[in-house]
Amino acid sequence: MRARAFGGTGLELPVVGLGTWQVLDLPPEEESVASRVVAEAFAAGMRVVDSSPMYGRSEAVLGRALGGRRAEAFVATKIWTRSTDDARRQLDAQLAFYGGHVELEQIHNLVAWREHLPWLEAEREAGRIGLLGATHYAASAFGELEEVMRSGRIQAIQIPLNPVERECERRILPLAEELRLGVVVMRPLGGEGALLPGPGPRELAPLGGLTWAQALLVWALSDPRVHVVIPATSDPSHARENAAAAELAPLGDDERALVERLARSL
Ligand SMILES: NC(=O)c1ccc[n+]([C@@H]2O[C@H](COP(=O)([O-])OP(=O)(O)OC[C@H]3O[C@@H](n4cnc5c(N)ncnc54)[C@H](OP(=O)(O)O)[C@@H]3O)[C@@H](O)[C@H]2O)c1
Repeated sequence: MRARAFGGTGLELPVVGLGTWQVLDLPPEEESVASRVVAEAFAAGMRVVDSSPMYGRSEAVLGRALGGRRAEAFVATKIWTRSTDDARRQLDAQLAFYGGHVELEQIHNLVAWREHLPWLEAEREAGRIGLLGATHYAASAFGELEEVMRSGRIQAIQIPLNPVERECERRILPLAEELRLGVVVMRPLGGEGALLPGPGPRELAPLGGLTWAQALLVWALSDPRVHVVIPATSDPSHARENAAAAELAPLGDDERALVERLARSL
C-alpha cells in the first residue's frame, strides 16, 4: 500500500488505516468479526489502527484481533478522562492490550490536555509511547487545538475531513503543514458512514470505476497535507475496498469538484 511521510516524525505510514469507533465494540460471541476485519485489513496493507477508551470494548477487542500482527501495527489510541489517575489506568490497560507500547497516544477531544501532557511526555521519555497527539471532531474546538499544536509538545493531530466537513482546511491543515505534524483524518466517510451509500455507478462513471467510499477516501488523500485516513468498518470486504483506495492516483481539481457536488446532493 502507498505510504506517506507522517509529518516530521521520520515515519512513513500506509495512507489508509482502520477506525474502530462502534464497529469493534463487540461482545465475546461476536469477536471473530474483529479478527476477520483486521486480517483482511492487514493482508491489504493497512497498518494504522485507531481506538479509544471511549469506544467501549474496542481497544481490548482490537488488541486480541491484532494477535501476532502486533509488531507490524501502528497503534493510535487515546486518553479520554479529566482525571490523571484514571488516565494512567487507561494507559496501563492499553500497554496490556498492545504489548507494552502505544505508537501514537492522542488526547481525545482535548480533554484536560494541559493536565495530561506532562505525564504523557514522561511516558514518552520512558519509551512506552512513541508519539503524542490531540484530536477533536468539532470545528468549534479548533482554536484550542491550534493552541496545543503551537505548544510544540505534540507530533500529530486527528481531525475530521470529508467533502461536507472542511473547516480544518482553513487554519488547521496549513498550521499542521507549517509545524510538520502528522495528520490523521477521522470521519472520512462522513462520520458513521453518513455520506453512504452515496451516488450510483452512472454518476460515478466520470471517476473511472471507483466506488463511492473509495472516491471519498481518495478525495481526502488528494490533499497532500493529509497523511492517513481511518475509515471504520466491521465488514472485511469494505476493509479491502478501502485499502484499495490507497493505490489510486490523487484526484484532479475537476474530479474533486465532482465528488464535492455529489456529496452535497446526498
Ligand atoms: N474525536 C475523535 O477522536 C474521533 C471522532 C470520530 C471518529 N474518530 C475515529 O475515526 C474513525 C472513523 O470515523 P467514523 O467511524 O465516525 O466514520 P467513518 O469512517 O466516516 O464511517 C464509518 C462507517 O462507514 C461504513 N463503511 C466503511 N467502509 C465502507 C465501504 N467501503 N462501503 C460502505 N460502507 C463503509 C462502516 O460500516 P460497515 O461496518 O458496514 O463497513 C461504518 O458504519 C472512527 O472509527 C474513530 O477511530 C475519532
